[in-house]
Amino acid sequence: MTFPLETERLMFRDWTATDLEPFHSLCADPSVMEFVGDGAPWSRERTEQFIGCAREMSRTLGFCRWPVIYKPSSAVIGFCGFVPASEGAEIGWRLAKDSWGQGLATEAARAVLKHGFETLGFQRIVATVQSPNRASIRVVEKLGMKAESSFFRNGREVILFSISREI
Ligand SMILES: CC(C)(COP(=O)(O)OP(=O)(O)OC[C@H]1O[C@@H](n2cnc3c(N)ncnc32)[C@H](O)[C@@H]1OP(=O)(O)O)[C@@H](O)C(=O)NCCC(=O)NCCS
Repeated sequence: MTFPLETERLMFRDWTATDLEPFHSLCADPSVMEFVGDGAPWSRERTEQFIGCAREMSRTLGFCRWPVIYKPSSAVIGFCGFVPASEGAEIGWRLAKDSWGQGLATEAARAVLKHGFETLGFQRIVATVQSPNRASIRVVEKLGMKAESSFFRNGREVILFSISREI
């Protein structure tokens, strides 16, 4: 699949200046951030920093945590994408609450995972999920990722999932 990526309902592209407002509104929502980091909603500066890092990563590495655009409304509803990890990359996702429960994270992650293996050439893709985050664990399972280990980060239990490229 070529970039920008598209699925039936979603599109992924590089970040633009107008993405800050819609993306920040979901990062400032406590229910979205419950199982992210230490659980605190982000300040505008933190969201700006995230977008700045993603743009730099896209420029230097050719991948990042891309904005997810919901095609029917052209709205930015979250992100899905990669950061570098040993032997490959770590996949992650975050969607606005009013987009949950429609299979959108799974649709996004399947396309991004395929892009990671087939176009970016990753051999192994991992995901880290806080253990009470049942929705995210379900997404990971639907992608065919397997739990490998667990550890503590920010005083919270995190499960490491992985999937390797089919040879
Ligand atoms: C995790 C997240 C991206 C999932 O988005 P989504 O579009 O609702 O996900 P999907 O609809 O593709 O799949 C969710 C699955 O979890 C299930 N699920 C949702 N809440 C659940 C819960 N509390 N307990 C068990 N399963 C749950 C759904 O039923 C669905 O599974 P199914 O298809 O077998 O029915 C979204 O909840 C989110 O953005 N959360 C906040 C940010 C976050 O936690 N990011 C991940 C950090 S690792």
